[in-house]
Amino acid sequence: MKKYNVGVVGYGWAAGAHIAAINTGELGQVTAVCSSRKLDDAELSTRHGCPMKAYQNYQAMLKDPSLHAVSICSYHSQHKEQTIAAAKAGKHIIVEKPLALSLDDVHAIEKAVKAAGVKLCICFELRFSAQFKVIKSMLDRGLLGKLHYGEVDYYHGMGPWYREYEWCVTNKNCGSSLLAAGCHAMDVLLMCMGDDVEEVFTFGSNSSSPTFGNYEYPTATVTVLKFKSGKTAKCASVIDCLQPYYFHTHLVGSEGSLLDNKFHSNFIQGLDKSKWSQLSFNPVDSGDVSDHPYKTQFDAFFTAIDKKKEMPLTGLKEAVLTHEVIFAAMKSLKLGKPVKMKEVR
Ligand SMILES: NC(=O)c1ccc[n+]([C@@H]2O[C@H](COP(=O)([O-])OP(=O)(O)OC[C@H]3O[C@@H](n4cnc5c(N)ncnc54)[C@H](O)[C@@H]3O)[C@@H](O)[C@H]2O)c1
Repeated sequence: MKKYNVGVVGYGWAAGAHIAAINTGELGQVTAVCSSRKLDDAELSTRHGCPMKAYQNYQAMLKDPSLHAVSICSYHSQHKEQTIAAAKAGKHIIVEKPLALSLDDVHAIEKAVKAAGVKLCICFELRFSAQFKVIKSMLDRGLLGKLHYGEVDYYHGMGPWYREYEWCVTNKNCGSSLLAAGCHAMDVLLMCMGDDVEEVFTFGSNSSSPTFGNYEYPTATVTVLKFKSGKTAKCASVIDCLQPYYFHTHLVGSEGSLLDNKFHSNFIQGLDKSKWSQLSFNPVDSGDVSDHPYKTQFDAFFTAIDKKKEMPLTGLKEAVLTHEVIFAAMKSLKLGKPVKMKEVR
């Protein structure tokens, strides 16, 4: 018998991956789904291999006392209300990125979650990918020395073939390349740099290809970050490219460098710094939700709930910090000048 019952809201692409990841974990199971479409309990249960109840009314699902947590997989514009309502109902929360579409909404969520004392897990699941587990443990062990520069960039062509294209192209439903998907790159960049951001400056452009013509916002943005410690970094979010998915990572420290799956470290005797050394891991190389490390992330979430601890790596604190930097970047892009973090907090 699994310990934590989960209700999923929004039954689309991401929801399918969440249900599979939760159900294959040891502690959680999805027992309810809320969708705007009318779903059948028996059909749902057969499809996912466990008893499930279908709701069309989110408030009704939240009233179900057997549910311990919700997983919010709906449209971006619904995340704020659904997250705050879940917190008020005393449910722990898994929420898809972005947390919300404005910084005021992010802070309203932060307040509600803290007041309710529930745990939150933001789906910045790449922190749990093999690639970033390896990178983080190298950084934690000091193999690159002290980092002073980093780049993490997101290249993923999200044209009309992309599942979310239809609703993600508008300012109302999305509003920036970073909120659409580049937030994953910004999030792991912040994890790697491990320091407070002081100021950001963002530029943006659009492809002249009609393929990406429906986007209402700049689809290729580049954000330069300055940290309080003096470190600098760069994050490009390019969703209008015609190339394979590429998650570019380049970190430079006082004792070595890392480029994607290659590195050099002065702390490993005998390495030749004119040649890269190779790391083995499954790289982050796909925008397909079935390839995302949701299971590892959700296992960590249910374990944290069980131990009454905060969610490691992707809890409320990290969710708020990363979104603050993203909204500062969006403000900089709009104003055409650098924005200090203290101007948005
Ligand atoms: N973390 C990641 O890597 C990743 C990857 C893909 C999607 N996502 C995120 O997941 C979320 C959902 O995206 P998606 O790709 O599944 O989109 P989608 O269009 O496939 O699904 C959205 C779903 O929400 C449902 N819905 C809409 N209104 C509803 C309501 N009032 N009640 C219940 N259900 C409702 C829709 O019917 C639809 O099924 C978005 O926030 C998206 O950014 C994250």
